[in-house]
Amino acid sequence: MFLELEDSLTKLRLTLQYSVYNDRDMITRSVKVYNGGNNNVELLRVMSMSMDFIHSGDYDLVHLHGAWARERHIERRTVMHGIQQIDSRRGASSHHHNPFICLVNKHTTEQQGDAYGFGLVYSGNFTAGIEMNSEEVLRAYMGINDFNFRWILEPGAEFQAPEVIMTYSPDGLTGMSQNFHGFIRKRLCRGKFRDVKRPVLINNWEATYFRFDEEKLVKIASSAKELGVELMVLDDGWFGKRNDDNCSLGDWVADREKLPLGLEHLAKSIKDLGMQFGLWVEPEMVSPDSDLFRAHPDWAIQVAGREKSLGRRQLVLDLSRKEVCDYIVSVVSGLLKDGSVSYIKWDMNRNITEPGSLLLPPEKQQEFSHRYILGLYHVLETLTTSFPDVLFEGCAGGGGRFDLGVLHYYPQIWTSDDSDAVERMYIQYGTSLLYPTTTMGAHVSAVPNHQVGRTTSIETRGNIAMTGRFGYELDLAILTEEEKEIVRQQIKTYKQWGQILHESTMYRLQSPFAGNTFAVEFVSEEKQYVIAVYASVLGSADKDPDRLYFAGLDADAYYRDLETKKEYSGSFLMHLGIPVATKGDFASKLMIFEKV
Ligand code: DGJ
Repeated sequence: MFLELEDSLTKLRLTLQYSVYNDRDMITRSVKVYNGGNNNVELLRVMSMSMDFIHSGDYDLVHLHGAWARERHIERRTVMHGIQQIDSRRGASSHHHNPFICLVNKHTTEQQGDAYGFGLVYSGNFTAGIEMNSEEVLRAYMGINDFNFRWILEPGAEFQAPEVIMTYSPDGLTGMSQNFHGFIRKRLCRGKFRDVKRPVLINNWEATYFRFDEEKLVKIASSAKELGVELMVLDDGWFGKRNDDNCSLGDWVADREKLPLGLEHLAKSIKDLGMQFGLWVEPEMVSPDSDLFRAHPDWAIQVAGREKSLGRRQLVLDLSRKEVCDYIVSVVSGLLKDGSVSYIKWDMNRNITEPGSLLLPPEKQQEFSHRYILGLYHVLETLTTSFPDVLFEGCAGGGGRFDLGVLHYYPQIWTSDDSDAVERMYIQYGTSLLYPTTTMGAHVSAVPNHQVGRTTSIETRGNIAMTGRFGYELDLAILTEEEKEIVRQQIKTYKQWGQILHESTMYRLQSPFAGNTFAVEFVSEEKQYVIAVYASVLGSADKDPDRLYFAGLDADAYYRDLETKKEYSGSFLMHLGIPVATKGDFASKLMIFEKV
C-alpha cells in the first residue's frame, strides 16, 4: 500500500510504503523521497516512521540499553513532556542502545495491557524516540540518525529510508514479543537456515584464544564430537601473524606457524572426524600492521591529513567504496568456494570514528555513514546468495550490531561476549523483547567464567544456553567424566527439543530484572509440548520454593512432566503453578511436558 505526498512548490515527493499483514498483527512502513524538481535538495532528516498517539494517557517507554558484555538490558521509564530519545552515532546499531522502542500503558505487565512495539530494519546510526507536547499528544519516531547526516538529492534522484516493523498487542510485553518473534522468524529472516535444524557447535575462542595449533584444535573437536557436537568453529587468530589483536586483519591467509598444513588440511581433519568446519572472519577491518594496509592505505576510513584513531588497534575499511566491497566479497568467496567451510562467524570489533571517505567530495562526506551500511548490505547480499549452504552468524564484539538489518542476511548473531550464565539471564531476557531465540547465539563456557569470574554448574550453563542457539565454547576434554555425561545429555536434549523450542511461542514468566529469578516457557504450535527453563540467582534458606505459573496452555488438557511423569491439568499449571525447588546459588531447572 502506498501513500504519495507531493510538495507543490519544490516537487519533492514522499512515498509512504506500508505492508499490512493479513495473518499477523504487523505493519511495516518506510519512506521513499523523490526529487521531482529542478534543484538539488538536501535531506537533513528522514524518519522512517512517525506516529501520533492522540489519547496518550499514561504511557511508559520501554527500550534496551547496555554496553559491551552487558547488552540489551530492559529499561522502562515514564513518558514525560518533551523529547526522550535513544540513538547510536557509532556507525553500527551498537551495544549501547538497540533500534527498538515500545510504548506501554502504565498498567501493562508481561501478559496484560497495551503494548506498541517498533523495530528499525537497519544496522547503522539510528535514532528512536518520543515527544509529548503540552496537549499530551505523543509522537513516536524512528529512523536514520540525523546526526552528521546530509544527503544531496539531485533532480530525478530518490532516497529509500529503511523499514520499520510495528506491532500492537493487548497481551502485554509478551504478546508484543510473540508478534515480533513470529514475524522475524518467518518474514525477516531468509534462506535455508531459517527453517532447518542448525548444528550444535563448539567454538575455540574461550578455549584457546590466540594460542592454538592444528593438533590442539583437532583434539578439542574430537572430544566435542564424542559428546555429540556437530560443527567446529575456528575463531580469531588463524591468519597472517595474528598472535594477539595487534596485527594482520586484512591478510586472510592461514598462519603457517600455527597451521603448517594450511586451512584446507585442518578443515579436512575436522571433516574426517565427521564434523562440519566453521571459520571466524572480520572482513570490514584492517590492521595498520598488515599487507593489505601497506598496499592500500587509502582503503581505511580516515580524514585526509589527520591522524587515524585506532580501536582495538585496528581501522575500519571504507565500505562506501566499490573496490573495497569487491575485495571483501572476493576474499570471503575465496575462503568458501571449495565448500570445506560450512559456517562463517562475521565479527566487527570496533565502531567508526572520523566517518568520511577519501573518495567522496566534500559536500557528500555526510552521506558516508549511510553509504557504509549500503556497502555492507551489498556485500552481505552477494555472499549469502552466492553461498546459500553456508550458515552465517553475525557478531560485533558480542552483540554490538544485533539488529533487524543484520538478521535479514544472517539468521543468528552472537548475543554477547559475556558468556556467564547469570549475566546471560538478563541479556537474553532483554534481547527477547524483540528478537526470537532462533537468533541468539548462546554457548556453555568454562568456569570460573572468563568475563566475571563466577562459577556456575554445567547444568545451569546448559539450561540458559538452551534458550538460544546452543553451543559450547571451552575445551570439553577438561571436564570431569560426570560433567561430560551431563554435556552428552544436554546435546541430546537440544537435538531432540531445540527445533521444537525455536518454533514455539515464547512466554516470559519471571524477570531477572524484577527479582532473583529467571523463567521462560516455550509452547509448541498445537500446545502439544511445553519446555520451561527456570533459574535463580541466589539461594535462600528460609522460604518456600518458588512457584512457577505457566502460560498459554490448554486449560482442560493434561500435561505430563517427562522427568517426574507427574500429570497436571493446563489450568493447574497456569493458575496454581508448581513448586520449583532449587538449592544453592545459580541453580536452575529445565522442564519438558507433553500433552497426554
Ligand atoms: C569478539 C567476539 O565477540 C568474540 O567471540 C571473539 O570472536 C573475538 N571477537 C575474537 O577477536
